Amino acid sequence: MGDLNPNSSFNSNLGVVSSILIFVFGLFFFSVVLLHADTGSPNVITTTVCPRTRNSSLCRTVLKPAGKSDALLKVANYTLTLAHTTAVEGLRHAQRLAAAATNPLLKQRYSECSRRFDFVAKSLEEAKAALVKGGYIPLSHATGATVVEADKCVKNFKKPPREPSKLPEKAKKIGDICDIAVSVSNILAEDY
Ligand SMILES: *[C@@H]1O[C@H](CO)[C@@H](O)[C@H](O)[C@H]1NC(C)=O
Ligand SMILES: *[C@@H]1O[C@H](CO)[C@@H](O)[C@H](O)[C@H]1NC(C)=O
Repeated sequence: MGDLNPNSSFNSNLGVVSSILIFVFGLFFFSVVLLHADTGSPNVITTTVCPRTRNSSLCRTVLKPAGKSDALLKVANYTLTLAHTTAVEGLRHAQRLAAAATNPLLKQRYSECSRRFDFVAKSLEEAKAALVKGGYIPLSHATGATVVEADKCVKNFKKPPREPSKLPEKAKKIGDICDIAVSVSNILAEDY
């Protein structure tokens, strides 16, 4: 019965054509959506910033909250803010230890660490000011010395007496996070 209906072959052709159209539009739609998803993903962190740091697993962990923004400038701001907060915490910790220490050698090392963390915190403040102005070369100069300063605090405690408060571990972490700031700054300075 259907074969005798002159409209049936037209209808089935229309069905095939519309299926093809739906398929093609579907492909188009998916490629647009996927491309957008790709450029919007936190690739700048995992593909550009973290592989250039000395502790890339720490880098990916601490930058996770910044991951929703793909803009390098936002990642830079987030990283500098985090590094500054961590350095200031370290500074206060070292100052408290220096004030409380009875062992003169430890007291001296704590004071030295607090001076180094103070330098790190001030450098990161300069770095943030440079970032706001778009001065990426001064930005990378400001972050450049921070890692070495934090690492010098770690080295302070290589010799006895044993340090009981985990300040060297904190200093190591400050250095690791400052190293992320260096990585982001250098990428910005290169693109400049
Ligand atoms: C990276 O940082 C984490 C957390 O601070 C630490 O446990 C780990 O030992 C570090 N890895 C390296 C290679 O420094
Ligand atoms: C920089 O990052 C901090 C911490 O995430 C945020 O509070 C601040 O608003 C940001 N500043 C700019 C200019 O984006």
